[in-house]
Order: sequence, then structure tokens, then C-alpha cells
Amino acid sequence: MTRRPLAALALLAAAALVGTALAAQEEDPAKSARDAEAAAAKAGAALFRDEALGTNERSCSTCHDNPKKPELSLRGVTTRFPRYDEDAGRVITLQEKFVQMQERSLKARKTLPLGDPKWTALELHLRGLK
Ligand code: HEC
Repeated sequence: MTRRPLAALALLAAAALVGTALAAQEEDPAKSARDAEAAAAKAGAALFRDEALGTNERSCSTCHDNPKKPELSLRGVTTRFPRYDEDAGRVITLQEKFVQMQERSLKARKTLPLGDPKWTALELHLRGLK
């Protein structure tokens, strides 16, 4: 008879533990943010190498991740925009530069719109370049 209260206590304790673990899993906003950003950076890295963005069998990485052209590395580029662009004749954002490049250097027939999550993912990827 004395075992019952103990068993009940053990059950309660186990339930509390499970409850705490579940709550921690659901409510860790920092982890959700890290996961979302890691996924976006990965998608951005893939976009950087994606020849389907254009029509000339090139990708952004053809020029911008080329050991023979270190001067074209995009390391640090996220800190250099917005800035004045000669051709546009005005200050442009980094995403506007992406669109310009997609048009000119990849000969795209149709460009990704500004604000497309794919461009945002590319920004995240480029910000992480070391
Ligand atoms: C054929 C080679 C080539 C390809 C392909 C290419 N670029 Fe470029 N990119 C350049 C050159 C050359 C410059 C420097 C001249 C200029 O700013 O237009 C440049 C400049 C840039 C800049 C500004 C860099 C800075 O530090 O100021 C960004 C950002 C950029 N490119 C992004 C891209 C993206 C994104 C793609 C793919 C959609 C891409 N480029 C495809 C050759 C290329």
C-alpha cells in the first residue's frame, strides 16, 4: 500500500520532465531563428551556383568565386550597399545590383523580383563569406 503514493509521485515527476522538454522544444525562439537563417544561407549558397538563373551557362559563382579572379570576390559586399551606381545614375540596393547582374552577366530573360526570398537568402549567404 505504501508503494502507490510513490508510484504516483514518480509518474508526476516524469510527466513534468516530459512537459518541460516539450515546452523547451517548442518555445526556443533563438533556435528557430538560427535554423531559419541557416536554411536561408544554404539556399543562398545554392542560388549563387545556380546556372538556371540565366541563359549562358554561367552562375554568379563563375565570376565571383573564381580563384583566378580574387578581385571579384563578394566578401564584405553586404556592407558596401546601398551605393551610387554609374549605370543606374542613382543609389541602388544590393538586391538591385543582383538583378542588374542577372540581366547582364547571366543574360536572364526574366529576372527575380526585388524582395524575392531567394535574393534575401543570397544576401545572407554573402554576409557569411569569410
Ligand atoms: C561574367 C562574370 C560575372 C557574372 C556571371 C556575375 N558577375 Fe557580378 N560582377 C562582375 C563584375 C566584372 C563586377 C564589377 C563591375 C560591376 O560592378 O558591374 C561585378 C560586380 C558585382 C557586385 C558588386 C560587387 C562590389 O563589391 O561592388 C555584386 C553584388 C555582384 N556582381 C553580384 C552578382 C550576382 C548576384 C551574380 C549572379 C546573379 C553575378 N554578380 C554574376 C562579373 C560577374
